[in-house]
Amino acid sequence: MPVLGFGTLIPDPAATISATRDALEAGFRHFDCAERYRNERQVGEALQAGLAAGGIARGDIFVTTKLWNTNHRPERVEPAFEASLERFGLNYLDLYLIHTPFAFQPGDEQDPRDQNGNVLYDRGVTLHETWAAMEKLVDGGKCRAIGLSDINLDGLRPIYESARIKPAVVQVEAHPYLPETELLEFCTKNDIVFLAFAPLGHGIRPGPLEDPIISTIAARVGKTPVQVLLAWAVQRGTVLLTTPRTAARARENLDITALPEDAMDEINRIQTRQRFNEVVKTGSPGFIPQGR
Ligand SMILES: NC(=O)c1ccc[n+]([C@@H]2O[C@H](COP(=O)([O-])OP(=O)(O)OC[C@H]3O[C@@H](n4cnc5c(N)ncnc54)[C@H](OP(=O)(O)O)[C@@H]3O)[C@@H](O)[C@H]2O)c1
Repeated sequence: MPVLGFGTLIPDPAATISATRDALEAGFRHFDCAERYRNERQVGEALQAGLAAGGIARGDIFVTTKLWNTNHRPERVEPAFEASLERFGLNYLDLYLIHTPFAFQPGDEQDPRDQNGNVLYDRGVTLHETWAAMEKLVDGGKCRAIGLSDINLDGLRPIYESARIKPAVVQVEAHPYLPETELLEFCTKNDIVFLAFAPLGHGIRPGPLEDPIISTIAARVGKTPVQVLLAWAVQRGTVLLTTPRTAARARENLDITALPEDAMDEINRIQTRQRFNEVVKTGSPGFIPQGR
């Protein structure tokens, strides 16, 4: 799994195609997608164009997508997976994640809510049942690995302990303001890839991108704050996702080098704690336009 992943949470379809194409050209080989982002077809179009142009084979790229909350019922898992495959125009996926541990009312409405705007959860299915259906996808051969996203250690442990096929990857928000050290330690000990999203704190300012310690280190090592944050994520042993929307940013985000140990220590000592995405608490995406 390439350590630097390109995230496709880009609401605009045309921008999705151009950013994915630019990322592929810049050298990204790991693409993080989701049924919920509603742009798998556009990502697939850009990837297919890259593959058709020659020089890159399917085996050179790593494609992940995610099962949305409305498809947790076991009988909905394989159809959801197949629908994603069809939209990408691919015949297998490298990784399939349960997007969040929260099951929503099954159906075509991705954001089911009652008259008061409250999310309609589905109490009729457990995460264990959904996981068992994910395991069957691996058995079927079109899904190379499975994992979880937006889950905490208390949620991960029981799945890890009871699973026939252990989670290969856990994707969560992580950056110096939310290092998730305990979860990282559990993942490292149990051979689970810790996949960090929002390594730049979703680009929200103020945030890690403007942290004075990050800026000072960036000036000292001759890199940008973005590159320092990405290097820190790699060096502490995580895989990461970032969403550069231009070719120049894609090149910048790939051009990272190891930080000196004292810089790692300084970043590890940052005391600010902030979560930027509440999806882990409710299952509702923090950064996807609603009602589309
Ligand atoms: N599992 C989940 O629930 C979940 C949730 C959120 C995200 N994700 C995945 O994680 C991926 C990464 O998340 P993210 O994009 O929020 O993380 P991020 O990389 O922390 O933040 C993206 C922001 O960083 C900015 N940025 C990127 N490269 C930059 C550069 N070189 N210079 C300056 N600014 C730069 C972008 O700016 P602009 O806006 O100006 O382009 C954007 O605002 C998503 O695409 C998605 O695949 C998963």
